[in-house]
This record gives sequence, C-alpha cells and structure tokens, in this order.
Amino acid sequence: MARSTMIPLGGDLRAGRIGYGAMRLTGPNLWGDYADRDAGVALLRHAAEAGVTLIDTADVYGPHTNELLIREALHPYPEHVVIATKGGFVRGGPVGARPALIDAIGNASYLRQCAYLSARRLGVERIDLYYLHSGRARDASFEDQVGTLAELRQLGLIRHIGLSNVTAAQLAAARQIVDIAAVSAHFNVVAREVVAREQAALLGAALEAGAAFVPWQPVSLTAPGSPTGTGGPAAARRVLEPIASRHRATISQITLAWLLARSPAIMPCPGTTSVAHLHETLAAEAIELSHADIDSIDSISPERTAAQSAPSGSSVTAGTDDPRTRCRPTRSACAAAARLRRGPGACRLRALPVQKK
Ligand SMILES: NC(=O)c1ccc[n+]([C@@H]2O[C@H](COP(=O)([O-])OP(=O)(O)OC[C@H]3O[C@@H](n4cnc5c(N)ncnc54)[C@H](OP(=O)(O)O)[C@@H]3O)[C@@H](O)[C@H]2O)c1
Repeated sequence: MARSTMIPLGGDLRAGRIGYGAMRLTGPNLWGDYADRDAGVALLRHAAEAGVTLIDTADVYGPHTNELLIREALHPYPEHVVIATKGGFVRGGPVGARPALIDAIGNASYLRQCAYLSARRLGVERIDLYYLHSGRARDASFEDQVGTLAELRQLGLIRHIGLSNVTAAQLAAARQIVDIAAVSAHFNVVAREVVAREQAALLGAALEAGAAFVPWQPVSLTAPGSPTGTGGPAAARRVLEPIASRHRATISQITLAWLLARSPAIMPCPGTTSVAHLHETLAAEAIELSHADIDSIDSISPERTAAQSAPSGSSVTAGTDDPRTRCRPTRSACAAAARLRRGPGACRLRALPVQKK
C-alpha cells in the first residue's frame, strides 16, 4: 500500500504524515513549565531537524508555557515547519478532577484574545493553523465561535482554521461558514467504552471536506483523561504484539502505521519527551501493513457505521454522542456566513437534514 508522503493543508501548506504533539513538554498535569527546559528545547529542535513538519500545541498546555517553549526552541521558524495551536479551553488549576479542571469558553472576545495572545507568544503575525479546541463551549453558539475564527482569518491573524473535538454535524455546520483545513479528534485502535472508534463518522466527514484528520493520543491507547499507556488493553496487545513482532516494530509504531494506512489525509501527532521515541515514531511511516494486519487490528474494536453512530431519531451523524456537542445547523450559521459577507445565498444549511433533539 503506497502512501503519499505529504498532506495538503488548506490549499497552500503541506505537512508530512507524522507530526509532533508538544503537549507533554509541560509541568505535571500539563501545568507550568516543563521541568527540563533545555531538554525540551533540544527535543523540539531535534524534531524539526529530523523532518517533523507540523508541531501541535495549544494555549491551554501549561497554560501558555508550551507555546513559549516552542518559540524559544524554534523561532524564527524553519520554512518547512507548520505550527498549529488552539484556543477555547481553560484549565482551572494544577490539580483537580474533570470536568471542573478543564472547561470550554467560546465567546468572541475570549476567542479573539486567545488567538492574538497565541500569536504573540509564538512570535508570529499569522498563525498557520488555529483550531477551535472544542465544540463544547456553551457561552456562544458553535456557529458564532466558528464565525469568530473566520473573522480573525479575514483579518489575517489566522491562515487556516481547524476544529478539535467536534461532531460530524458541527463540522458540517462550520463548513457552511468557512473552509476547515484540519479536524482533530481522539482516535486510535482501541475503542472500548470510549469514543475513539465512534469518530469514524467524523473521519469520513473530514475526508469529504478535504481536511486533514489529526488523531490525538494516537499511540496512547487509553481513554481521554486517563494516564497514558501505550500498550493498550490486554486484548489489543494480543492482536498488536504478533504484528509488531513480524514487522520488527513496536506496538506504538504499529498503531501509527494503522492510522496512516487508513487514509492519506490522516496525520497523527504523537507526543513524546524522548528523542528515541521521536525517531521510533517517525520510522513508523515506512511500515507497510498487509490487508490481513489491518483486518486484525480493525477487529480489536469494530467500528460503528455512520447509521449506528447517529443518535436515534437523528438524520445527522455525530462524532461523539455528548449532548453538549450536538449541533443544530440553522440560523446562526447562516448569520455567521452572512456576517462574513458571503451572503445568505452562500448558506445552504436549511437544505441539510437537521438533527432532532
Ligand atoms: N485536540 C485535543 O483535544 C488534544 C488532546 C490531547 C492531545 N492532543 C495533542 O495530541 C498530542 C499527542 O497526545 P498525547 O501526548 O496525549 O498522547 P500520545 O501521543 O498517544 O502518547 C504519548 C505517550 O506515549 C508515549 N510514547 C510516545 N511515543 C512512544 C513510543 N514510540 N514508544 C513508547 N511510548 C511512546 C509517551 O511517553 P514518552 O514521553 O516516554 O515517549 C507519552 O507518555 C499531544 O501532544 C497534543 O499535541 C490534542
């Protein structure tokens, strides 16, 4: 299975198949400075030198310290490196339990401040790829949040817009307002009770949109918010270990190879604090899984079809079934599109099937 080596991003950017997620270069519980600042700087420089073309961060990593570390390590940024950051999440402190520990804010003033301050911290006039970190904020409609980013794009602060942790319905609504260059979601070979493989509907929608799909926690086979564990559950290991052994690879590499084989538009951004793991990760691109390997890995957790993923009674599929993320793409998206002077004629939302509550 030959794979393309670059992924188009928003029409005028290209990135390699495997990026680097910098989130772990922060303090304990993703709070504060990374303890070994020099090692963090060295790792980021090493990643860029080793050919990583996309580095993923967010204002909430640290908060802020991750973006500042990236700037310290890499500014002025090499031509080939795309920096992707995100706004919209806030972290309530260094310790605590979800959901209180992390919350989403989406009003226009807040998102605008986020983007301007990320640009300032990263030392750029324009952010290459800026994600709405979550479709969960409730202080503004989802469409208004996307509209805010679209306006920032028109102002030149953002080059391309991404969406993170949204549903397929939200992606459809966002696309009525502005082009979406990338979609990020929790997606790896393990599903269990978590949403990972239910993101198949979102993946399909992202690919249809021509967006890059960036699975987060691609090698850490655990539920969101759990401590990382790259081995995965025992049942997954039983499938992955013989495949890894046949390819003289590690389980982490096999999970990445499975993602890469899934679609040429998938760009995992694994996170590591280790140079050895970074190299291991990048080497995964050369692994060619057989159809039999892929079938075995698929069997770890059969994917739901779009129809199975849709909440009952709905005609719009959603990547997650969290009611807070369900989207009714109607008037406000049209208003956001109109605000961007694409005019009401540009909005075809009423032609879309609307999800029933
Ligand atoms: N959009 C979102 O909401 C969201 C949420 C979470 C994460 N993200 C992004 O996704 C990136 C990746 O997520 P993540 O760091 O949580 O999970 P991950 O990449 O799946 O896993 C990272 C963990 O796996 C280990 N690891 C990495 N490569 C390895 C290898 N080759 N062999 C063995 N262990 C390996 C790392 O430990 P070592 O340090 O020891 O290598 C670390 O503990 C983040 O950095 C962030 O940029 C986005």
